[in-house]
Amino acid sequence: MSSAHLTFDSTSDKIATRVRKMRSSAVRDLFAAATRDDIISLAGGMPDVRLLPEEAVCKAAEAACGAARSEALQYGGTNGREATRRVFCGLMRDIGVRCRPDEVLITTGAQEALDLIAKTFIDPGDIIITEGPTYLGALQAFSAYEPDIHCIPFDEEGMRMDLLEEELERLGVGAVKFLYTIPNFQNPGGVTMSSARRTRLIELADRYDVMVVEDDPYGRLRYNGGHMIPLKVLSSDVIYLGTISKVFAPGLRTGWIAAPKDVLARINLVKQGTDLCGSSFDQVVVEHYFTDTPWERTLQTFVRTYAERRDAMLAALDEFFPPEASWTHPDGGFFVWVTLPEYVDVTSMLATALEAGVIYTPGNGFFPDGVRGRNSMRIAFCYENPEAIREAIRRLAVVIEERLQLYRAFLEAGAL
Ligand SMILES: Cc1ncc(COP(=O)(O)O)c(C=O)c1O
Repeated sequence: MSSAHLTFDSTSDKIATRVRKMRSSAVRDLFAAATRDDIISLAGGMPDVRLLPEEAVCKAAEAACGAARSEALQYGGTNGREATRRVFCGLMRDIGVRCRPDEVLITTGAQEALDLIAKTFIDPGDIIITEGPTYLGALQAFSAYEPDIHCIPFDEEGMRMDLLEEELERLGVGAVKFLYTIPNFQNPGGVTMSSARRTRLIELADRYDVMVVEDDPYGRLRYNGGHMIPLKVLSSDVIYLGTISKVFAPGLRTGWIAAPKDVLARINLVKQGTDLCGSSFDQVVVEHYFTDTPWERTLQTFVRTYAERRDAMLAALDEFFPPEASWTHPDGGFFVWVTLPEYVDVTSMLATALEAGVIYTPGNGFFPDGVRGRNSMRIAFCYENPEAIREAIRRLAVVIEERLQLYRAFLEAGAL
């Protein structure tokens, strides 16, 4: 056999350097192998679309197949359908954001919005700031454009403004391209930024000339606590990202960017080169779902169901987890962030957890260096029923307790 036959990837020497640096996560590969029926997954962040009423979904889909089909099946403008943009202005108005349709651009989910923003604004080496940990998909989207990502830790009141101020002061005015934040029920942290910190963030962004990107997929999934004012209300310069993925369905890849018109014009140019326009069909379905069906009632069903699951998870954590563990207490969204003692490496623990029939997402994937967060994990309560969640936490507690016992034994033997 000639050596040419041993080449696994014939294009490997042609791949762009920035793509060569991208790695499929070992964890994702492990999840793909986790097909046993008895495994309970706390790993994903899938909304429970089983709760959507068939009648409402069919009604919205029929509109796209019927009267509106010649539009639904045609190319659309790059900014998206005006009627759909009007629907999104209505959704934002409900939370206090005043926006006109010409200040909105429709995207293929909030994920595309993250990529478009990165493509529009990031040059290699540019500094951007995120919460640390932050949404894995944002890190993937941003990293492709090779920024220098600085992470600011959060506590139960969201991103730490004292640390943000220190960092901005150290870097200087104009040094940071943009700050990306998920103020409501953060992914993966589950924490919500307090009102005082929102005000402070806008003040600091103003003083240090930092653009703010506010990602808000979970804002309407609030289970307790008061309504928080979006950053976009505090400053119309904020680039606000919305999506229907968590309040309707992620399969209809539809989200939006609300931003000042000059910013949108740039993003529009970039989007033309990406996909010309988003799916007209999906937009028609979304438009009809939010105008012709009792979607707010369905949203209440989502909220009630997720709240029960959140309660089940927090109760099980209290019941089963060891005193060395701590975790966040989300007022909404999908996720709890668990922190274990520093010596516990949750990535290496995952194989044992899988054996025990439970999976979670290790915390290091939510940091740009892939190193921090090794003793933390994200656990999601959005998809499994309360009984399954309790059982998953019980199984996980057994795995964690084993690790802790091992450590205690080492300690007693003076081996550490
Ligand atoms: C914080 C955050 N931003 C963006 C997204 C992407 O959402 P979409 O389905 O709209 O692309 C997600 C999905 O989980 C998310 O958690």
